Amino acid sequence: MSTFDTPSRPIDFGRIESDELVALVRTAPKAELHIHIEGSLEPELIFDLAARNGVTLAYPSVQALRSAYAFKDLQSFLDVYYAGASVLLTEQDFHDMAWAYLKRAAAEGVVCAELFFDPQTHTQRGVPMGVVIQGLKRACDQAQQVWGLRAELILCFLRHLTEEAALQTLEEAMPYRDHFIGVGLDSSEVGHPPEKFARVFARAGELGLHRVAHAGEEGPAAYITAALDLLKAQRIDHGVRCTEDPDLVQRLVREGIPLTVCPLSNIKLCVFPSLAAHNLPGLLRAGLVVTVNSDDPAYFGGYLNENYTALLAAHPSLSAQHMWQLLRNSLMASFAPPALKLQWAQRLDEHFAAGARG
Ligand code: ADE
Ligand code: ZN
Repeated sequence: MSTFDTPSRPIDFGRIESDELVALVRTAPKAELHIHIEGSLEPELIFDLAARNGVTLAYPSVQALRSAYAFKDLQSFLDVYYAGASVLLTEQDFHDMAWAYLKRAAAEGVVCAELFFDPQTHTQRGVPMGVVIQGLKRACDQAQQVWGLRAELILCFLRHLTEEAALQTLEEAMPYRDHFIGVGLDSSEVGHPPEKFARVFARAGELGLHRVAHAGEEGPAAYITAALDLLKAQRIDHGVRCTEDPDLVQRLVREGIPLTVCPLSNIKLCVFPSLAAHNLPGLLRAGLVVTVNSDDPAYFGGYLNENYTALLAAHPSLSAQHMWQLLRNSLMASFAPPALKLQWAQRLDEHFAAGARG
């Protein structure tokens, strides 16, 4: 079975040639809902910031650092990712990192970006919470002013640390409550199930924050169920292992829970052996609210449009209507106000209708 939404105007998807589809997708309005801003730090910027801050890196050159980007699983990536983030010290550093990402996002048609950040990676090194949040927020505000790109922050707890540390992190962030819209859960998944963070997510809910969680990337389908039941997660980050539990798939469809899937990430971290073997088309055809995202683009070989393009190349059976649905899902699954989401969706429909006219 496949489930499709209806566009706000008739679109003759069949008239869109497959060779035009890539360009149409690349220029379409879209949202990015799963991007770790620390994962957008390009090696060149890591070296610039290291020089600016007098930080010594374990790698002699940009090229040497880049050549370390061969990962066998999530943990082998996280070790390199946390080392890269060690160059971030000042508010200007956090601003510059987010600004570099948002500039690329704007050029890729992104109208809404909900950015994950990992405050504990920085506060543990003595960087004050205010430095992290205010630097990121300044870049987000500028993106709105310059490009009309809505950029919001989601504070993630590191699941390899304790819930007490997460609770303390949330408290520390309270002076900046209006600077972020939600909380998330990331880092090493296996062995750190959602139930470990039930209290801090309940507290976040009381504070009116949105809730998302990584689940079913490397961890089992049961972690997705626990994220829904115990954390009240409104979106599941990755979630690709949901197919191991058919009842869970039915529930995700029924409840319309979006999955923020990251195709290139899943290949780099060996979740799937190849993009051709990725289950995203199957998830979409099952009626799940699938979205395409970049996760840690500086480390995984591509930003958002590269994810769409590589997906299409590996799965030529994905039609214009499938791609429209993925793009629409991204906009509708964002935490933006409903009226704004509808405006974006209408822009998407106009874009595809114009593409169908040729
Ligand atoms: N932190 C950054 N990228 C991540 C990923 N793919 N999974 C879990 N934690 C992360
Ligand atoms: Zn992620």
